[in-house]
Amino acid sequence: MAPPDTVLDELFDKNLAWANAKNEKDPTFFRRLAEQQAPRFLWVGCSDSRVPANDVVGLDPGELFVHRNIANVVHSSDMNLLAVLEFAVEVLRVRHVIVCGHYGCGGVKRAVENAEGRLGEGHTLVDHWLAPVVDLCIRHRAAIDRTAAPATPLDKLCELNVSLQMRRLAATPVLKTAWARGLDVTVHGWIYGIGDGLLRDLGTTLSSSEELAALPPLDDLLATPHEPMSAARLHAVAAFLEMELADMGAIAPFGSACTCGAWDNGPFGAEREEME
Ligand code: CO
Repeated sequence: MAPPDTVLDELFDKNLAWANAKNEKDPTFFRRLAEQQAPRFLWVGCSDSRVPANDVVGLDPGELFVHRNIANVVHSSDMNLLAVLEFAVEVLRVRHVIVCGHYGCGGVKRAVENAEGRLGEGHTLVDHWLAPVVDLCIRHRAAIDRTAAPATPLDKLCELNVSLQMRRLAATPVLKTAWARGLDVTVHGWIYGIGDGLLRDLGTTLSSSEELAALPPLDDLLATPHEPMSAARLHAVAAFLEMELADMGAIAPFGSACTCGAWDNGPFGAEREEME
């Protein structure tokens, strides 16, 4: 028998403290969860330890069905992902599937190194896994290099990878069949900033095979820059528009509609400065 490991003991202690805190707040929490799970969302994200799915969207156990892998890649032959997707859509009846990448993704960085021939003899299984992302880097390199600052080429690739994986997810037999049967399920593309803790919406959703077929080529996304929207920015824009309308005497004074606090006291100075 292995000697006791105090590092692992810490995990059990933290677990006990967490379960106790949950029980204190809501004595029926675990009993209810044991009876059934009814998550409304499926999260397809990166395995990166800095992007814990439930935490970044503030959801409790039972509220988010999760699949994670390196660089949030969708392989059409990945039985793990396909089974998770099918169960989420057909049994749990989630209506929102969120493909969430993140800036500074190590998987995307690795794919760039591979695309640029910088791996030498050091190819591993991870590189095999990342093949679609390597292909993405090679195909769209020229368009990515033309994108304007402040987004770095790696940032743009992380965003473009989400757009690609959304399309690949929407093309799986699971979603095609669900949509053909009239199920209401939408695929969303988000990206998370590990440097500021904020999620951003890339602005594309897919709710049918027709919408997938009508999407512009990925290079067009790069040619027509779209700034990913965080909640802080959305609220700031809403407040700004309200201020303009208030100036015209049309509605109540600025500030009454935006209640998130981001404008006044959040860690979003840069976004506020831009709006001001
Ligand atoms: Co990553």
